[in-house]
Amino acid sequence: MSSKKLRASITGVHGYVPDYILSNSELETLVDTTDEWIMTRTGIKERRILKGDLQGTSVLGIKCVKGLLEKTNTDPKDIDLIICATVTPDMFFPSTSNLIADKVGASNSYGFDISAACSGFIYALSTGSQFIEAGTHKKVIVVGADKMSSIIDYEDRKNCVLFGDGGGAVLLEPSSDDTGIQDYLLKSDGSGSDMLCLKAGGSLRPASKDTIKNKEHYIYQEGSSVFKFAVTNMADISEEIMKKNNLKADDIAYLVPHQANKRIIDATANRMGVGPDKVLLNIERYGNTTAGTIPLCLWDFEKKFKKGDNLILAAFGGGFTWGSLYLKWSYNN
Ligand code: COA
Repeated sequence: MSSKKLRASITGVHGYVPDYILSNSELETLVDTTDEWIMTRTGIKERRILKGDLQGTSVLGIKCVKGLLEKTNTDPKDIDLIICATVTPDMFFPSTSNLIADKVGASNSYGFDISAACSGFIYALSTGSQFIEAGTHKKVIVVGADKMSSIIDYEDRKNCVLFGDGGGAVLLEPSSDDTGIQDYLLKSDGSGSDMLCLKAGGSLRPASKDTIKNKEHYIYQEGSSVFKFAVTNMADISEEIMKKNNLKADDIAYLVPHQANKRIIDATANRMGVGPDKVLLNIERYGNTTAGTIPLCLWDFEKKFKKGDNLILAAFGGGFTWGSLYLKWSYNN
């Protein structure tokens, strides 16, 4: 028997964004803003919105997982576990992962959701990898998806320009070589919770006439304070994971950053010493889809990746939560 450590490899990725495009010019008709302000401050040109009644985050997740199963030629009954990272679950319970499993026919799978806001996908990916490394699970799907439009006030110009709907999913399987997830660092600091949160609707402040009147079911954010924490922590943790694994800028094929703000991403890339050619960006087209940004980015740029490429994933989000993950890509396209 070999004593080699089992690693979890990403063996497929699929993403989904809804068809409806909410452009900066349409936002100009809703709130007092301009395309120029949004582009300069955030780098976002447009975002996707899931329209229609009774369309929750599970709709995004189901599209991602169905596409993933088809693409990887996987029988849904072979899936052991589905983990869904989201802060916009269809309902508090049951979990969105259960709804996804049911609709994709993953009848032998169990599942649970992970709530870590914009760091949700990295938290969920590192969690999913543990089940593979333990040798107890052979096929794990990790979904990151959010319907941010369900918690956005389209009269609030500070927040409505930033977010969009979308998601992505990856399949994790035991690696047959030394590729796959190599290392990760996860952090949180609950003292930042007041700066970025959904104030009401939970057990602390259940829904009431007042919470509705005060618009407390919409995202609350102190943008410039969050910005400062995000710049420092996302850059720090990306540098830390490089040092921990003796990686120099030349060793990195791509940085896959959470897409919240182009300026936060630039600061992280600068600290890592990687040039713009190595930084994957799709914020211009989708905005911040919270747990969806990183898997959407992997999906968008999958064709670029070669087996053995070193990728650094990095995120910062509400909670506060932040993290970085180092993986070696496992297949050629
Ligand atoms: N259009 C036009 N003006 C706007 C605007 C908009 N959409 N949103 C805010 N403004 C105004 C503000 O009202 C403020 O005006 P004032 O000085 O008269 O009060 C001015 O622009 C500057 O606001 P400020 O919040 O200081 O701008 P900023 O440079 O910090 O950029 C964000 C705002 C939200 C883009 C930026 O803070 C940010 O990206 N924060 C991180 C948000 C994030 O990504 N969070 C998710 C988790 S990482």
